Formats: sequence, C-alpha cells, structure tokens
Amino acid sequence: MDSQVLVDEAIEALQSKIDDTAIIACSGGIDSSVAAVLAHRAVGSLLHCVYVDTGFMRKGETDEVRKMFEDMGITLQVVDASDRFFSNLEGVMDPEEKRKVIGEQFIRVFEEEQEKCGAKFLVQGTIAPDWIESGGGQRDVIKSHHNVGGLPEDVDLVIVEPLREFYKDEVRQIARQLGIKSSERQPFPGPGLAVRVLGQLTRSRVEACREACHIVETRLREASENGLCDLPWQYFAALLPVRSVGVHGDTRVHGETVVVRAVTSLDGMSARYSEIPHDVLTLISTEITNSLKGQVNRVVYDITHKPPGTIEWE
Ligand code: XMP
Repeated sequence: MDSQVLVDEAIEALQSKIDDTAIIACSGGIDSSVAAVLAHRAVGSLLHCVYVDTGFMRKGETDEVRKMFEDMGITLQVVDASDRFFSNLEGVMDPEEKRKVIGEQFIRVFEEEQEKCGAKFLVQGTIAPDWIESGGGQRDVIKSHHNVGGLPEDVDLVIVEPLREFYKDEVRQIARQLGIKSSERQPFPGPGLAVRVLGQLTRSRVEACREACHIVETRLREASENGLCDLPWQYFAALLPVRSVGVHGDTRVHGETVVVRAVTSLDGMSARYSEIPHDVLTLISTEITNSLKGQVNRVVYDITHKPPGTIEWE
C-alpha cells in the first residue's frame, strides 16, 4: 500500500482512540519512533514522550535519541532509571525472567511518569513479530518480547498499538515517509543489551558488551562503505559467561567470550548468517580483545541461520 495512505490511516485511527493525555516510551528505535511521530501528529501536545535510560542502551545512544527528537520538534523527557533496573535484575539469569523484570520495571517507571502527567493512554510500538512470537494463537512461545510479556495485569492505562499489524519492512517504509532519521538504523531489541549479556547483568559486563557492539557496528559499517561486504540487516556482539584460558604477554588469563552475530533478513522472522570477509572479522576480534583486555580473551563468529537459531542469543 502507498506509504502516505498507511500514515493517514494510522493517524486517523489514533485520533479516534486517544481523547486524553497519552504517554509513550521512546527508545529511539524505529518502532517506538514511528509510533511516537504518528501519535504526535495525531494528538500533538496530548502526547508525552519519555525516554527511559535502562542502562542497557548502546554507546552514545541516549544523546543521539535526545538530538533526534529535538530535531523533529518533539519534547522528549529523559529518565535515568538504570540503578533501578540493575538492582531488580541482580541474580536474574533466565532470559524470559529478564524480559519479565524489564517489562515490569518499564511499566513502573511509566506509572510514575503517568501520575506526573495524568496520562490515560499508553502508546506502544509493538509490531506483528513481537506478538506472533510471544505466543499469539496456536504458536509456541519462542521469546516473550518485553513490550508484551512484561505487562502486569493491574496496569491502569489504555494500550494503543498503531503498528500492531505491520512487519519491519513496512514500518521502515512508514519511517521513511515520515522522515524519521532512524529509519535506516538496524533493529535493536526492547530490553537492549540486557539480552546480549548472557548470565549476570553487572554494570561491568554490560559495559563490555556495549563496547564490543560498538566495535562490531563501526567495523561492519566501515567495511560496507569500502565495498568489502554488504551491510548486514542486524549486527552486534553478545557476551557469553564462558571462560577460557588465554595469554597476555607471559600471563595466563581466564576471560569471557564475545560472540559476533551478523545476519541478513527481511523482517526478523527468519534470517541467514552474513558472510563477512575474514580480514574484517580479524579486525573486529583484535579490537575487541585489545579494548577488553583481561575481561574478554576469545571472540567467535556465529554461523547459525534462523531457524534453527534466533537472531539474538537470548
Ligand atoms: P529473535 O532473536 O527472536 O529476534 O530472532 C527477532 C528480532 O526481534 C528483536 N528482538 C526483540 N525486540 N523485544 C524487542 O522489541 C525483545 O524482547 C526482543 N527480542 C528480540 C531482535 O533483535 C531481532 O531484530
């Protein structure tokens, strides 16, 4: 369908649903940004955009998001809730449990913001794969995406999901139509780096993952700009709680493992691992082990398609 028609219909639908103050969590990702811009166009200053700094965002991301909204003329309130997320996730190792805790904390932060602005509606950027993979209809639960699975039953807000029927490629199309800068950004999971740090979520392990993700992103963008490979659909690093023996000079070290993941996909429902030139992988590996000396001494590349794997490791 024509992008302008999709936009007009979505705005009309939002106007018919929202008749009071609304709140939306903006992560800067494509889904929540599109939902926010549509809702802002539909109801203007009735919408309160809140960015929750969970502590699981990518390097420099908070400032970039702040700037993106500023450039679009939309007021964004930044709430630093990282202490609260880390303390509630202490000792939580199970991926589903992590998503649940993160989802609940998100809603709690929102409830506080809601009380401040008196919002009656919660706009969410849920897209079709989020709820299909969270056990819609007859399907098995593969992963409960935090924006679905973590929602407590006692939440006192009317949920509005303008992108519920759309797949990622359609959302990108709408983003381009709306002139959203993040429209070409790669997808990033709602729970952020929390699902890329397997095992304990400590500040230091999350920081290591953040640095490794930054290296993978920088080097792969550079390689694609230099014509060495196509830019994958999604590309990142995950930190594994797998220790192996390594050497630094004359010293034996017992460090953790970083796995590099890069995939091609259309909508995230299935994916193929990307064929990255070995020279580029070598550069990534060297830079990660140099930057994270003592903490990470092994880098591996994931050659699993989806299915049978998933894109993220949790
Ligand atoms: P998987 O790992 O399930 O990921 O193959 C498919 C796409 O969804 C993203 N993803 C998430 N997005 N909340 C989200 O909003 C989540 O909990 C979540 N888990 C995975 C993933 O990055 C990929 O683009």
